[in-house]
Amino acid sequence: MTPADDAPTSTGHTAATAFDPEGVALHLLNATQAAAIACLPWVGRGDKEAADQAAVAALRARLAEVPGQGRVVIGEGEKDDAPMLYQGEELGTGTGAGWDLAVDPLEGTNYCARGVEGSIAVLAATPRGAMWGTSGWYMDKLVVGSGAAGQIDISLPVDDNLRRIAAALGKQVDELVVIVLDKPRHAELIPHIRSLGAAVVQIPDGDVMGSLLALVPGGGADVALGIGGAPEGVLTAVAARLLGGDMQGRLAPQSDDERALLESDGVDIDAALTLDDLVGSDQCTFVATGITNSALLSAPQPAGEAWRTCSVVVTPRHQSLFVQALVPRADGKA
Ligand code: FBP
Repeated sequence: MTPADDAPTSTGHTAATAFDPEGVALHLLNATQAAAIACLPWVGRGDKEAADQAAVAALRARLAEVPGQGRVVIGEGEKDDAPMLYQGEELGTGTGAGWDLAVDPLEGTNYCARGVEGSIAVLAATPRGAMWGTSGWYMDKLVVGSGAAGQIDISLPVDDNLRRIAAALGKQVDELVVIVLDKPRHAELIPHIRSLGAAVVQIPDGDVMGSLLALVPGGGADVALGIGGAPEGVLTAVAARLLGGDMQGRLAPQSDDERALLESDGVDIDAALTLDDLVGSDQCTFVATGITNSALLSAPQPAGEAWRTCSVVVTPRHQSLFVQALVPRADGKA
């Protein structure tokens, strides 16, 4: 909360200009839609940096219109290397409730550059102070849907977690579907999970979407686990919190430089992070818009003088609202 948020009134009550997750949801949706549309000229062009820059600029312009005092907690990096959407950047109209923001204007840069399925624009917002921030790049994650909430413990071996998840879901371990990023660091983990009998879906990139498949009912997966981006972990945690799922994480530095950075920041690298640690409030908003097609979200389609976009909006009152919207084309083309 900002000092203005909790200033006592003459009645002794708190004059709460509380963050309104429902109220900002459509503003955030405008921003992810704009980011997705801005990427379209870059889909399949082999230039992930250009695509990312287009998404960043479009997203940031729309975030200036969101009511309240926004602050980027999970952004594109430090100010020195990210001129826009850097950690600490202030956004929004500047009056009203304070909120924290996690941004990934283009999640799945490789997918977009290669023109294949799986890229999205994604945002998550929480009340000011409720979002965990990090200078870390990588995180070990364990994500389950509501059926297995409260049953996971990242400090236990994967074998134990899979047994617990299966028991909670009334399944055998060999009926579980596990999503894991297809990265060299998981060269032993993936066959190990298969040796326990579970099916592994190996995804090349995009563990926010991979985690959503475990969190959304009928998404087709029971658990997402393994090491991916730390910023993506915070975005995922907001979705998990809103959807009644569960998540634990632990920073997992993948280089000496990353470890040194965390140590110089005085971070407890080995701490197991619960969902409460990652997101300290239920009053959050999570929004994602498809850039290329994926299992949950279609790519924008031309529709006369507009783009038909496909998004998912999750708030405390509206869980998994799938939104198809017609967004006018800036170029006026039909
Ligand atoms: P980008 O969109 O920034 O390229 O991230 C894609 C992604 O696959 C994330 O979903 C994931 O968390 C992270 O990269 C994993 O990082 P790395 O590819 O370095 O293993």
